[in-house]
Amino acid sequence: MNRQLVHEKILIVDDEESVRSVLLNHLNSEGPQCVGSPNALDALNKMEQERFSLVISDVMMPGMSGMELLRLVKRKDPETAFIMITGLMDINTAVDSLRIGACDFITKPFELPAVRRAVDRALEQRRLAIRNRFYREELKRKIRERTFELNEALRDVEESYKITLEALVTALDAREHETLAHSQRVREYTLTLAEALGLKYDDLIQTGRGALLHDVGKIGVKDSILLKPGKLNEEEWTEMRKHPQIGYNILRSIEFLAPAAEIVLCHQERWDGRGYPNGLAGTEIPLGARIFAVVDTMDAMTSDRPYRQALSFEAAFEEIRSCSGTQFDPKVTEAFLNIPVGRWKAIHDSVNKSHKTQGCFDLICPTSTAFL
Ligand SMILES: [Fe+2]
Repeated sequence: MNRQLVHEKILIVDDEESVRSVLLNHLNSEGPQCVGSPNALDALNKMEQERFSLVISDVMMPGMSGMELLRLVKRKDPETAFIMITGLMDINTAVDSLRIGACDFITKPFELPAVRRAVDRALEQRRLAIRNRFYREELKRKIRERTFELNEALRDVEESYKITLEALVTALDAREHETLAHSQRVREYTLTLAEALGLKYDDLIQTGRGALLHDVGKIGVKDSILLKPGKLNEEEWTEMRKHPQIGYNILRSIEFLAPAAEIVLCHQERWDGRGYPNGLAGTEIPLGARIFAVVDTMDAMTSDRPYRQALSFEAAFEEIRSCSGTQFDPKVTEAFLNIPVGRWKAIHDSVNKSHKTQGCFDLICPTSTAFL
């Protein structure tokens, strides 16, 4: 006997004892074990006790009909195969039974080899359906497992990105104090303006990183110049102006920071082409760098300097407005000026507050941790 048949059982439901025993004798002789039932209710009781792979049922029976039994069987276990036994002339019932879920019908009087073939087909169909279900469930399980693994790996990558960013900003801050707070503020400002200009998620991430790391090249500028309290002479300025290129050189080889490196390289360029290091003009300058230039000016003006107190945001607004089209991209300037002064002040205060209370890189950017 086929190993698969060992666990398969057939329930034969017919009120005519003679029909039942012919079927039982024939099907029991080879193949799955068969059990007989004289009516639908008895069949349902038996199905409560054990699982049947196939039900072969007469249509016309006292009490519950074969059609009703078919409906109940399919509702309870859609994988149970069902063959209906109908009268020769009852083709409509046969079609209806197929529509409800029977896999085949046998017409009375039947020939036993035809019954055998129908039973084999029905059981094979059921096995196939079960194998497909197992396959789908296994596939779903594997997808869930792989998705989980992938998310874990992505979390690890994000964590290492965060650590790299922290290391770079902290390294610069160690040399030039106050850089950390400035970098965090300009990143917040840049993200706010970039969002207002409609930048999409990936570009926001890169623009935010570019803003955060814009001055990382100052790591390569001599202390005597970087920390000089007084004004720089021309030669010193030449050295200082190398910092965008140095920053670019540091970042471009770090794959996840390569797009942000472009912003670092261009953060001192001007709309009118009078910036450095390459004198780019207009839209030759990456949009992220054009956005950064505006908010960097605001942050410089609204921060205390050794030689002056912080200016008001309103004064910074006027200065930026007056430099639209020369230092700054007019469209970026317009978007900037459309954001109320109060919003910029709120960002300023919130970053400064978390910088003071946390004193570390973590948690400093409550509004933009998603863009690390
Ligand atoms: Fe700079």
